This record gives sequence, structure tokens and C-alpha cells, in this order.
Amino acid sequence: MNEHCDSTSVAPAMRAEILVEALPYIRSFSGKRIVIKLGGSAMTRESLKKNFAEDIALISFIGIKPIIVHGGGPQIGALLKKLGKESRFVKGLRVTDEETMDVVEMVLVGKVNKDVVSMVNHLGGKAVGISGRDGSLIKARKAQPARLAGLDEDLGLVGEVDRINPELIDSLEEHGFIPVIAPVGAGPGEKPYNINADTAAGALSASLSAEKFILLTDVPGVMDADNNLISSLTEDQAAELIRSGVASEGMIPKIRCCLSALRGGVPKAHVIDGRVPHALLLEILTDQGIGTQIVREKDPGL
Ligand SMILES: Nc1ncnc2c1ncn2[C@@H]1O[C@H](COP(=O)(O)OP(=O)(O)OP(=O)(O)O)[C@@H](O)[C@H]1O
Ligand SMILES: [Mg+2]
Repeated sequence: MNEHCDSTSVAPAMRAEILVEALPYIRSFSGKRIVIKLGGSAMTRESLKKNFAEDIALISFIGIKPIIVHGGGPQIGALLKKLGKESRFVKGLRVTDEETMDVVEMVLVGKVNKDVVSMVNHLGGKAVGISGRDGSLIKARKAQPARLAGLDEDLGLVGEVDRINPELIDSLEEHGFIPVIAPVGAGPGEKPYNINADTAAGALSASLSAEKFILLTDVPGVMDADNNLISSLTEDQAAELIRSGVASEGMIPKIRCCLSALRGGVPKAHVIDGRVPHALLLEILTDQGIGTQIVREKDPGL
């Protein structure tokens, strides 16, 4: 900034400009659904949680319909550790026996979900916490190792999304509520099944015809083999990152669910850094997109 300028006169103009920059985005997203996956690893600092809640309250006040799906890997891991139970992952998915499932449900539905809800409500939003078992929102089936390509071991009570029943979301939205969803599905016999939060969020974004699907995580985005941020990927390029092993562990379900969201009709999916203050606002309402966008092959300009 010019040092001779009077900052008190310049700052308001700049602020107004920033607000005006949001106008086309508000116009195109107002009234539309955006599914946001909040990663457990992006929820560790208090100030970031507050920024996230502010962003959600703001976008909801301007008529965007956010639907939040949260993870809770680090929080589940911490309690399991306190209880002396080891966490084991196969390709980013937690092996879940019955005892682990109890802990998963207690932490996700009882603690993390309510924390997210309170944060948003504290800032004037109208969040309601539910799990996939409520209103049979997420019907799960047992994850089949063959379907998960290359897995040869039983993951226990790990579910895949069988069906989404959107009625509960529709009625919450009708009354201005912001759904906050813990990714526990109703499996065979109404048993709780642990569904990877990315997978659940991807399926929800397609079923709910979301305009955008955004995953907030603890890395700048999808990184290449040299650990540089990739700002844009086509579906083929994204799939290749899994095949080549450049995307591993927790990034595998993330890329897979972005691809299934795109195939399900969602125009754009984004993996962004939840550690950046107000990452969500920057992604949705400014010209300066952040992180990695994955776009449909046929319309990369979207
Ligand atoms: N190519 C890649 N680019 C970026 N991150 C990668 C890549 N391959 C593997 N990863 C790992 O994926 C992790 C993100 O997934 P992770 O499951 O840990 O977080 P999350 O999904 O945000 O949180 P949660 O599972 O609790 O909801 C990163 O921290 C990184 O270690
Ligand atoms: Mg994860």
C-alpha cells in the first residue's frame, strides 16, 4: 500500500471492493446446497473452529444451504488410546470391531457432532446435529473388500453407503436449519456402521444435488509426487494419483468420493486446507480459489 495514503480512507474502499467481489458468487450459490466435509484433523485448534463456524453462519445468512459432514479420526484415536485400544487402518479406513464401533459412535455422535453444532449456534446459526441413523438418512451395507479394490481383509463394521434418504435434510432445510451429520450409517439390522466421513459426504453431495462439494483437511490440498500442491485435476488425473500411489492413506477415500460426487452430477469438488483461517469463505466467495479443485472431464471450465 502507498505509504502516503491515509489508511483510514483507503481501507474502507478496499473492504467494500472485497465485499463486492463476493456478489457474483452470492448470486450463483444463493439457494443452492454446498456439502462441506470437515476433517477431524482440521478441527484441532479453537480459533479455526471459530472461523469455520463464522463462515457457516455467514454463508447461511446469505441464502446458501450448507450441509456439514464431519470426521473425527484424531478424536476417536485419542479415546481409543486412553482405553488402551490400538487403531489400525487399511488404505485410510479404520478397522472397526464392535467395541471400536461403540467408541466411534460415542465420539462422533456424542461429542464431535455436538461441538460443531454448538460452535455454529453460538454465532447465530441454526445447526442441528444428526447421524446417518436418524431418519434413516444413510442406509449402509457392509463394505466389501473386493469393492474397495485391493483390500483382502475384513474391516468389521465398516460400511459403504447403500442409500441416502434425503427427507430429513429436506425438512430441516425447509425450516432454516443447518444439518450437521456424523457419518454413522444404519446397517443391516439397524446396526451402526462406521462410514468414512469423506465417503458419506460424497454420497450425500450427489444425492442432494449439491452445487459444490468441499473437503476441509489438514494439508494444502492434493499434493503431487514432489509434495507440491496440485491446483486443478481432471477425473482421470485424480484416479491416476491413486493408481500410482502418490495419493495414499486418508487421501484415497477423499479422491474416490470426489470422483463419485462428480459422477453423481456435482459440478465441482474441492480439497482445501482447513488450517487456513476462513478457508471456506475464500473458496466459496472470492476469485482466489484455494487448494485443489477436481472438475468433470467434459466441462473443465466450470
Ligand atoms: N497425495 C497426497 N496429498 C495430500 N495428502 C495426502 C496425499 N497422500 C496421502 N495424504 C495424507 O492424507 C491426509 C488427509 O487425510 P486424513 O484422513 O488424515 O484427514 P481428514 O480426512 O481431513 O480427517 P478425518 O479422517 O478425521 O475426517 C493428509 O494429512 C496426508 O497425510
Ligand atoms: Mg480421513
